[in-house]
Amino acid sequence: MEHTSAFNIGETIVGTKTYDYKPKMKLKQILEESLKSKTSISFDDITVVPDYAYFKLNEIDMSTYFSRNIKLKIPLVSAAMDTVTESALAIELAKLGGLGVIHRNMTPDKQASQVAEVKRCLNVLIENPVCIYATETIAQIIETYGGENGELSFHSFPVLDEGSKLIGMLGEDSFKIGDPSQTAEELTIPLMISAKEGTSIEDIYQDMKIGVVRAIPLVDENREVKGMYVFSDVRRKIEGDEICNIDNKGHLKVGAAIGVLDDAYNRLEKLAAVNVDVVVIDTAHADSADVLETINQIKKDYNIDVVAGNISNGKAVKRLVDAGADGIKVGQGPGSICTTRVVAGIGRAQVTAIYDCAKMAEDYKIPICADGGLRYPGDITKAIAAGANSVMLGSMFAGLEETPGEIIYYQGRKWKSYRGMGSLGAMQESQSSRERYGQENPSKLVPEGVEGIQPYKGPLNETVGQLVGGLKAGMGYAGTKTIDELRQKGDFDRVTDAAREESHPHDIFITKEAPNYPGKEQNEPR
Ligand code: XMP
Repeated sequence: MEHTSAFNIGETIVGTKTYDYKPKMKLKQILEESLKSKTSISFDDITVVPDYAYFKLNEIDMSTYFSRNIKLKIPLVSAAMDTVTESALAIELAKLGGLGVIHRNMTPDKQASQVAEVKRCLNVLIENPVCIYATETIAQIIETYGGENGELSFHSFPVLDEGSKLIGMLGEDSFKIGDPSQTAEELTIPLMISAKEGTSIEDIYQDMKIGVVRAIPLVDENREVKGMYVFSDVRRKIEGDEICNIDNKGHLKVGAAIGVLDDAYNRLEKLAAVNVDVVVIDTAHADSADVLETINQIKKDYNIDVVAGNISNGKAVKRLVDAGADGIKVGQGPGSICTTRVVAGIGRAQVTAIYDCAKMAEDYKIPICADGGLRYPGDITKAIAAGANSVMLGSMFAGLEETPGEIIYYQGRKWKSYRGMGSLGAMQESQSSRERYGQENPSKLVPEGVEGIQPYKGPLNETVGQLVGGLKAGMGYAGTKTIDELRQKGDFDRVTDAAREESHPHDIFITKEAPNYPGKEQNEPR
């Protein structure tokens, strides 16, 4: 059987919920040595060794898994941090094939409504489309449904007569040509297609494919509107070849962070009601009794994937998987805003941690997400070659247009805030942040993170384009066509200080920043 991803869903062993996971990673000498000598190493200590590329770059497949049942089209997941992931970023990242994990420094209700926003974003069947009456003017419609800049949130409106019967459709083009005082009736396109309530998405697809209509309303025998299909969403669902990361109902996938015990159960009740795809137990030390109990309880009560983190050694993987975890998040202290290693004196350099956990997780057929510490696009290639199935990014996504918070103007440049979830500010503001670091007393906080700013990076799609482009190049150089192949075959050389210096631009005064190489501010010593 052709094998293109870490798990072959087709080979599910009924009842045991395990997937075939092959071929296994080959032993990686540098990383084996690091384990044996107890000298943990990280991204800057290694480089991936090139190998023969038997394929063309456009044949590369980046699909992978975040957890047992949550597939990704690209291996990028956004950090559950209050300066990184809310619905805006989660929507854009899922549209590009990745996954956002909504942070938990907000009430369970607010978090659930953020998840619902992501889920609502692509609607295959819009059950209650916004309809307008023939007598309404363009100005009135824009006032009711336009955003702050007057832009409409919907592109097609069914138009009703005074008896609420469908008489036509009003598309966004009509708004461009129409005068604000004109009524919907004057601009409505009467010659339009409608379908009977209950028409299947497949039949609608055939109609939409041959026609020029963007949206088809569904009507009952009285011509009352009972739903609406929009072509772009229907095509996405049927053709399934777009880059969006969607669930089996055609909605974008999204994850949400939860705590342990009561926090987890309270949040999950609300998150499950809005169909969250995966929950991520978000703690600084997941190898603990409370986390095991929480996973165990959730798996008894819900049919939902649970990713547990963070940990940094293989033995912890076994405990978490035995408790029922469907995915493992690795990283204790590598993050750009983390001070855990220096405050608590614990942790393990990230590449050794990934490898140790991935080796164990492979035996249990569970995906690993490498969380934190990635600074360059090439670190994604290295994390996957070390055994990760996906990576979670904080600083690389901080400062994006879609992250929470305002743009800050400082020293002639644009910035956005980025802070650790264990920073003083985050812990003072949020019980969830305190809980993540096991701290109860708000007046005696011991921070494990810092607060700062990141250069404003513009929209997510440009950053993701660079990251995916870097990974694609890396996979080409490594001679590996799939994520699974990179995990299995990718191998490393250890680098010396001289080699590391050689790897970066040298003997040049850079006058023009590249979009995928950090500028001076980011490149300064940590
Ligand atoms: P990057 O390097 O991508 O790391 O910015 C993001 C990850 O860092 C973790 N995180 C923290 N770790 N103290 C820590 O020790 C903190 O205050 C903190 N805040 C976030 C988290 O796993 C995130 O995904």
